[in-house]
Amino acid sequence: MQSIVERDFGTPQRHGAKTVTLTIDGQEVTVPEGTSVMRAAALADVKIPKLCATDQLEAFGSCRLCLVQIDGMKGLPASCTTPVAAGMKVTTQNRQLADIRRGVMELYISDHPLDCLTCPANGHCELQDMAGVVGLREVRYGYEGANHLVAEKDTSNPYFTFDPAKCIVCSRCVRACDEQQGTLALTIQGRGFDSKVAPSQNVSFMDSECVSCGACVQACPTATLSEKSLIDMGQAEHSKITTCAYCGVGCSFRAEMKGEQVVRMVPNKDGHANHGHSCVKGRFAIGYATHADRIVKPMIRASITDPWREVSWEEAIAYAAGELQRIQGKYGRDSIGGITSSRCTNEETYLVQKLVRAGFGNNNVDTCARVCHSPTGYGLKQTLGESAGTQSFDSVMKADVIFVIGANPTDGHPVFGSQMKRRIRQGARLIVADPRTIDLVHTPHVAADFHLKLRPGTNVALINSLAHVIVAEGLVQEAFVRERCEPDSFEKWRSFVADPRHSPEAMADITGVPAADVRAAARLYATGGNGAIYYGLGVTEHSQGSTTVMGIANLAMATGNLGREGVGVSPLRGQNNVQGSCDMGSFPHEFPGYRHVSDESTRRLLEGAWGVNLQDEPGLRIPNMFEAALDGEFKGLYIEGEDIAQSDPNTQHVTAALMAMECIIVQDLFLNESAKFAHVFLPGSSFLEKDGTFTNAERRISRVRKVMQPKAGYADWQITQLLANALGYPMNYAHASEIMDEIARLTPTFTGVSFARIDELGSIQWPCNAAHPDGTPTMHVGEFVRGKGKFLVTEYVPTSERVNAKFPLILTTGRILSQYNVGAQTRRTENTRWHAEDRLEIHPNDAEERGIADADWVGISSRAGETVLRARVTERVQPGVVYTTFHFPESGANVITTDNSDWATNCPEYKVTAVQATRVSQPSEWQKRFREFSETQAGLLRP
Ligand code: SF4
Ligand code: SF4
Ligand code: SF4
Ligand code: FES
Repeated sequence: MQSIVERDFGTPQRHGAKTVTLTIDGQEVTVPEGTSVMRAAALADVKIPKLCATDQLEAFGSCRLCLVQIDGMKGLPASCTTPVAAGMKVTTQNRQLADIRRGVMELYISDHPLDCLTCPANGHCELQDMAGVVGLREVRYGYEGANHLVAEKDTSNPYFTFDPAKCIVCSRCVRACDEQQGTLALTIQGRGFDSKVAPSQNVSFMDSECVSCGACVQACPTATLSEKSLIDMGQAEHSKITTCAYCGVGCSFRAEMKGEQVVRMVPNKDGHANHGHSCVKGRFAIGYATHADRIVKPMIRASITDPWREVSWEEAIAYAAGELQRIQGKYGRDSIGGITSSRCTNEETYLVQKLVRAGFGNNNVDTCARVCHSPTGYGLKQTLGESAGTQSFDSVMKADVIFVIGANPTDGHPVFGSQMKRRIRQGARLIVADPRTIDLVHTPHVAADFHLKLRPGTNVALINSLAHVIVAEGLVQEAFVRERCEPDSFEKWRSFVADPRHSPEAMADITGVPAADVRAAARLYATGGNGAIYYGLGVTEHSQGSTTVMGIANLAMATGNLGREGVGVSPLRGQNNVQGSCDMGSFPHEFPGYRHVSDESTRRLLEGAWGVNLQDEPGLRIPNMFEAALDGEFKGLYIEGEDIAQSDPNTQHVTAALMAMECIIVQDLFLNESAKFAHVFLPGSSFLEKDGTFTNAERRISRVRKVMQPKAGYADWQITQLLANALGYPMNYAHASEIMDEIARLTPTFTGVSFARIDELGSIQWPCNAAHPDGTPTMHVGEFVRGKGKFLVTEYVPTSERVNAKFPLILTTGRILSQYNVGAQTRRTENTRWHAEDRLEIHPNDAEERGIADADWVGISSRAGETVLRARVTERVQPGVVYTTFHFPESGANVITTDNSDWATNCPEYKVTAVQATRVSQPSEWQKRFREFSETQAGLLRP
């Protein structure tokens, strides 16, 4: 259990190798050059009073409370803004300093409400603390003069309040919004006594650009900015460090608790992925964990038209196991399978795949990573030899050129998006390749040097034309390629991309990107210093997803941008544990650690440890399971933490497959869309209710720590264990750490990983083994994992999904900051205040042509189906392209996406669907059926 009061060293840490020794109150202190006197004092346990300084922000020097005396220096400098110097002699306490500090505090307190006893910050208010520290005994100015005590409170934000009467205008909030978040939503308006903090042009927080990241709340030393939950519940009693269960950034948080209730989630300053920052989801959107919709009793039913019957755990598990055994008895060993999720911990995912391989006796296990980053695994493994991203997030701070393709970091990976913006504001150049104008293209103090606004589906053509310029203009890093890459593969690739048919001029008609921009962007990436590529689902979710990933790796190898900090190829993983679910062997063709099921030595190792014979042929992928179900061969499915009925493409096809099965077991928090087709519901646990680990997009394994008892009685890994035992395959783990110990024993890249080691180091980036006992922040240093890097020829093959007169627009999809994937969590929080429905973005020209105005209902039809959404007319999308998010099941975004998929991995082609859009006045037929079915199922849940 951690203390809930974190130490604040006053100013940020400096990392220089050069150190400086000085004397503070007679004590010798040695610190890195550039450290402030305040921080040096704090490191020596000498406390200097402060108000406007905090170690999360650069010093500002406004409150004058931290003055010190320095021998040989005139006046009394502020310790927060004064850097240390060799031989400096600092005095932090004497009569004169004490008088000045008391005087400063008197001024602050004369304009501050004296309601400490009823203030939500009572007990952790820095102003209150400092009044005590400086020994404030009287306020000579009285409290009757001009003041701000009647200033109106702003409660517009659902998660925090702004009470300007308590503001001391220290500007910590303004600086947090600038420096940490990069939104610049706050300003100090007016001067002197009249100065005050205000969101943008004096509007409420909700009406401003504020994205509710909470950085200002965290920075505020008073109760001016306070979490509403803190105001309601009072201060926490205890806390634990855990990891956010939303996106692949993997932010570390301190869950501050009162008994079993979360008072607030505070971003962990020592978090290696987030360094004390957060976004609105991880910081505030946790209400889903205790939402009334949570199902906390196991339920069974024979048919999906029957009402659910609440039963004991024993009965539910026995029924589920009995059904799976009955189906295997009747239809054969391979007639059942399991799906695990990237929302689950590593330990849970590992157990699901083990249950399937050892308990079911087949390899029919897959994960939702199938539908997002499976091409990453394939493409990077083929070229570089390892299926994971090459860098740490912090590496971006050494990048000179940042190339973002098919990713929207400020919405999808907000904390990393903020870090990226920080680097760009420091001077890094930016290339964005995206069909849509994402925020990063133009945001305060950040502008892309090039926005390559390509047509959806033409990534490979664009990458090839960038490669063409690099080769044709002699920009290849020949020495790197000679030393690090396979010469034959390079020569083949070089002559392939050098072909004039790949020139930007030849490709412009296909990509829609002006050739001059492609040429300039290629030159910038190849010659601008450290070039770092970041990509997301806009790369992978295509019929040529794997090809683009390989093309990206080719570009990085050709320009020598691999194997050190500041460069690399970094897939931005969507969900919290996409990396982990892939690492844990949840694909049907791979055991944990990406070892193919046909690899005999791995099979022998696992067979020895698990005490069973293992299949040597890959099992069914999710889409193959659907096909087999429709063919009558696949009849039983165990789904943990994944909602295939909402998230997989071509919804009608998916639901038909689900209805063709005889036993579907869903283990989840809510009766999600898939559970409406289920026969057994096993109530799962939220990330607050269990121990385990998540692995983020940097391969960073972080602890998830239990802060409350599982609402339904069991953590998810325990439920899988119960099912395994009921099926006759024994599992006897007493704690999640024992599962990780087994993973470490059996997986070479995890040999050095254990809960104890993670506790010791804070987090570990795999590979972690004898060669890398503290983990591996940067991959492929000196040599690629596969030895020599392999260039692969990336022929552009246009998708079969073509526009025509009937379907003249291309629909592409993406996420928004406040919602998360299928929305099961965020829809059950106040985040719906920012995004209450999915809308169809359409360019003004296309809208006008169709008589569509903003907020009109629009029918969207594709070759797969039809749905209806409201329009948002915007120039963010290019003419001919429409865009939507997919966070609400009734939107039916996947009713219109097709069955097309990546040639290598079957990752669905979510990003390209030919559609028509027309103004309509009522929901689609599918939506009507969906509503009816959902109502029926709700009735069967609580008859
Ligand atoms: S919550 Fe975040 S975005 Fe909003 S004002 Fe505060 S720091 Fe800025
Ligand atoms: S709101 Fe808080 S952080 Fe911002 S200026 Fe006022 S007291 Fe300082
Ligand atoms: S950036 Fe991602 S991991 Fe971090 S708080 Fe937000 S959702 Fe959670
Ligand atoms: S803490 Fe140094 S001037 Fe405010």
